Amino acid sequence: MARVAVVTGGTRGIGRAICEGLAKAGYKVAANYGGNDAVAEAFSRETGIRSYCFDVGNFAAVEDGIRRITADLGPVEILVNNAGITRDGTLQRMNFEQWNAVIQTNLSSCFNMCRAVIDGMRERNFGRIVNIGSINGQAGQYGQVNYAAAKSGIHGFTKALAQEGAGKGITVNAIAPGYIDTEMVRAVPPNVLEKIVARIPVGRLGHAEEIARGVLFLVADDAGFVTGSTLSINGGQHMY
Ligand code: CAA
Repeated sequence: MARVAVVTGGTRGIGRAICEGLAKAGYKVAANYGGNDAVAEAFSRETGIRSYCFDVGNFAAVEDGIRRITADLGPVEILVNNAGITRDGTLQRMNFEQWNAVIQTNLSSCFNMCRAVIDGMRERNFGRIVNIGSINGQAGQYGQVNYAAAKSGIHGFTKALAQEGAGKGITVNAIAPGYIDTEMVRAVPPNVLEKIVARIPVGRLGHAEEIARGVLFLVADDAGFVTGSTLSINGGQHMY
C-alpha cells in the first residue's frame, strides 16, 4: 500500500516540488495550503494532488485538517513541515505582529502538525518527519531575526523529536535549503539578492526540485538509520 504523505505549504514553491516528487514516486500525497484558493485549485488541477486549506499555526485547525486528510487518504505516515513565510526587516523596525506571524507559521506549525500525527505513528511503529529549516537558521541573516529564530528553532525541534521517535520507527530530519528560486526569494530586493548569489559557490540559486530530491531520500522506508540529521542543500554557501 502506498504510504500517505502530507506536505504543508504544498501548493507553491519548494512545497509544490516536494508534492510532485512524492506523487511521482508513488506516495499518496495531501498538500496543505494557507488560503490562496486560486493557486491551490490550479495546483490540484495540474497535478491531480488534493489540497487542504488550514492554518498550520492554529492548533485546532491543524487537528481538523489532519482528520480530513486521514478520512480521505488514510493515516499519515510521512509529514513534511515546509510551510513558511517571511516578514523581513531589521529588529529596530520590526513590530510584534511581524515577529509573531513568522514564529507561529514557521515554528509553532511544526509542533501543531507533529502533535496531530505522532500518536498514530507511534502506534504503527513507523513515521518519517522532515522539517524544512534554512541556511538562515544555521547562519543568521541581516533583517531576519524572526525567520532565523524560527528556522533555528526547527533545527533544535528536529533533534529533540528524533530522540523521542527513534525507538518507535519514527525518523525526524531537517533539510536546510539555501537560496532557492521561488517567489519568496524573488521578493528580496534585486540589489540585495545579487550580493547573496555572488556568495554562492555553485554560482546560482537552487531549484525547488533539488530540495524535493533530499526529501525523497529521507522519507524512504530504507532510510530508517538516518535520524536527527540536517541535510544542507545550499550550493556550498554555508558549510556547516
Ligand atoms: N550586512 C550588513 N549590513 C547590511 C546588510 C548585511 N547583510 N544588508 C544591508 N545592510 C546595510 C545596508 O548596506 C544599508 O547600510 P547603509 O544605510 O549604511 O547604506 C543598511 O543596512 C540598510 O539596508 P537596506 O537599504 O537593505 O535596508 P532596508 O530597510 O531597505 O531593507 C531588509 C532591510 C528588508 C532587511 C533588506 O536588506 C532585505 O530584504 N534583505 C534580505 C533579507 C533576506 O535575505 N531575506 C531572505 C528571504 S528568502 C528566505 O528567507 C528563504 C531562505 O530560507 C533562504
